[in-house]
Amino acid sequence: MTDHPQPVPAVAITGLSKRYRSIKAVDNLTMTVPVGGVHGFLGPNGSGKTTTIRMLLGLIPADGGSMRLFGEPVPQRLPQVIDKVGAIVEQPRFFDTFSARKNLALLAQAIGAPLSRVGEVLQQVGLAGRERYDFRTYSLGMKQRLAVAATLLKDPQLLIFDEPTNGLDPQGIHDFRATIRQLADSGRTVLVSSHILAEVQQVADTVTIIARGGTLAEGPVATLLAAGSDPVRVVVGEPARADAILRAAGLVVQGDGRALLVTRPDGRLEAEEVARRLGEQGLWVSELGVQRRNLEQLYLELTGPVGGAA
Ligand SMILES: Nc1ncnc2c1ncn2[C@@H]1O[C@H](COP(=O)(O)OP(=O)(O)OP(=O)(O)O)[C@@H](O)[C@H]1O
Ligand SMILES: [Mg+2]
Repeated sequence: MTDHPQPVPAVAITGLSKRYRSIKAVDNLTMTVPVGGVHGFLGPNGSGKTTTIRMLLGLIPADGGSMRLFGEPVPQRLPQVIDKVGAIVEQPRFFDTFSARKNLALLAQAIGAPLSRVGEVLQQVGLAGRERYDFRTYSLGMKQRLAVAATLLKDPQLLIFDEPTNGLDPQGIHDFRATIRQLADSGRTVLVSSHILAEVQQVADTVTIIARGGTLAEGPVATLLAAGSDPVRVVVGEPARADAILRAAGLVVQGDGRALLVTRPDGRLEAEEVARRLGEQGLWVSELGVQRRNLEQLYLELTGPVGGAA
């Protein structure tokens, strides 16, 4: 057994709890966000994401548990680490009749960031061409970019975005993903919360999945998804016969409306085996492929009834 010291994570939370009267908003939550990369903080509406982030940033007190940012216990040592952190929790306030550039210049002054950063961050979020227009003329997506630009003024190592794509159109969501990917690729850590698991899967390296205030699963997306086995999806002309043939071979068959989803209960199933078993009985498949599990399915496996049967 080697004894390498673990690298200090960007965020380390253990046993965190917060109660609002009878509601356990956060209940013994654990989360570790490694340095570098995009970390998805995922859970349905009301599962405690915003409450957790607000406690981490010292905006509300916790009832119990421990939180560290870059190894420093918070909120106790928040003043020492806060300059390493940029966050969008609530929609930030900008002046309607000031341009993006002027809004950021004011903010830079207020937080003591060099004015030269303003142009850099506008460039970074793709607003450079529109920086002289008044804030009130901006679309929702542009406002969101400006909010991201504002968090970058201090050149933080950790960025925390709470549900950043709420209200954005598909193009806006796509652009935002590209922005956070870039930030992570430049060595920063991005913690991004969302209730839409599939949306974050495309950009997150690691995730924490929570429900009802507690942690369900955590780790690299690839590892979490590899833990189960992907179903083989097959479309055939005679689904009822195909179903019987595959079941007789000891496989598990479910329908998804149009196709059969086939798995082996105790291990991996190759698409070729499904095609061969059906072909041997004179059934030809018109579509065949492996359906990748996604975080949404993983979430349902962790929380919901197994097998899909009611
Ligand atoms: N100030 C408050 N007073 C009372 N209850 C609260 C308060 N803030 C949050 N809660 C409750 O705590 C629980 C967790 O809320 P929270 O906002 O953290 O969830 P969330 O995961 O961010 O949800 P969403 O995806 O909808 O943003 C919810 O049941 C919510 O109603
Ligand atoms: Mg929230």
